[in-house]
Amino acid sequence: MTAADFQSWAAAGQALIEAFLQKVLPAPEIAPQRLHAAMRYAALGAGKRVRPLLAYAAGEVSQADPERVTAAGAAVELIHAYSLVHDDLPCMDDDVLRRGKPTCHVEFDEATALLVGDALQSLAFQLVGEYRLADEASAQLEMVKLLAAASGSRGMAGGQAIDLAAVGKTLSVPELEFMHIHKTGALIRAAAVLGARCGSGLSEAEFARVDTYAKAVGLAFQVVDDVLDADAPSATLGKTAGKDAAQGKPTYVSAMGIVQARALAEQLRGEAHAAIAPFGARGARLAQLADFIVLRKF
Ligand code: IPE
Ligand code: IPE
Ligand code: MG
Ligand code: MG
Ligand code: MG
Repeated sequence: MTAADFQSWAAAGQALIEAFLQKVLPAPEIAPQRLHAAMRYAALGAGKRVRPLLAYAAGEVSQADPERVTAAGAAVELIHAYSLVHDDLPCMDDDVLRRGKPTCHVEFDEATALLVGDALQSLAFQLVGEYRLADEASAQLEMVKLLAAASGSRGMAGGQAIDLAAVGKTLSVPELEFMHIHKTGALIRAAAVLGARCGSGLSEAEFARVDTYAKAVGLAFQVVDDVLDADAPSATLGKTAGKDAAQGKPTYVSAMGIVQARALAEQLRGEAHAAIAPFGARGARLAQLADFIVLRKF
């Protein structure tokens, strides 16, 4: 499959997620209007949509119904959008630029941004409660628990707590890995595993392969985010470049330098490919996404 082919596949998935989010996010005319406008501002119109794309790609491996994967992928994307709104708040990374626009609290206000995060998270769980994701209710319940665990104190929110506590400190590489697999890896992993669980065409050993793949790309994603923060301009990133060093955040770049960090991302790309190699052509989209995540420029 060619690069152009991957791009059109990704664009189709992005369009499906955008349309679904347009539908499930309350219209800006519905009260409370300002909160709904701010939720839509934070969730619609931009973002690479890597997590839903991972869900679609994993769903292709397990022969999942794409409509089910759309609901699951959108739920993960809403948790992600909430995490970005809170990440940018003055009490966290204090950022003014996100996805090429003023951050939510700059465009609206801090209290609204706080509530946007709360409400996007609730909407995500509403979706995984309302839409059918699996044939058996018990299987769907396991998926809801998986999303909750990936989002909470043992997942993304916990990783964010570690990140904030680490400002101004030096972390060892194992400590950095622990932080990154929580703050970013957990949701990425959930996206791929939930996409695969929307279908029933895999054995448990095959699900484990998807999970091994997703662990590697989840860590690689944040290693590359650290590299890009140090190495790419704000105009390309759509967010403020160079802020990790400016804020004294320990990152893979501060721990090992850009060259080594890129080499680690490359190694993780190899591990991801190896995990899904037995799927052959069915795993082609997952393989392309691992390439995109490691080689991306934004
Ligand atoms: C940025 O995530 C925050 C991290 C978890 C590193 P993305 O790079 O996926 O951001 P968008 O969704 O494309 O804007
Ligand atoms: C954020 O990590 C991880 C989240 C859970 C949002 P960063 O703070 O590095 O993300 P960016 O660089 O602001 O997107
Ligand atoms: Mg942060
Ligand atoms: Mg940040
Ligand atoms: Mg960053």
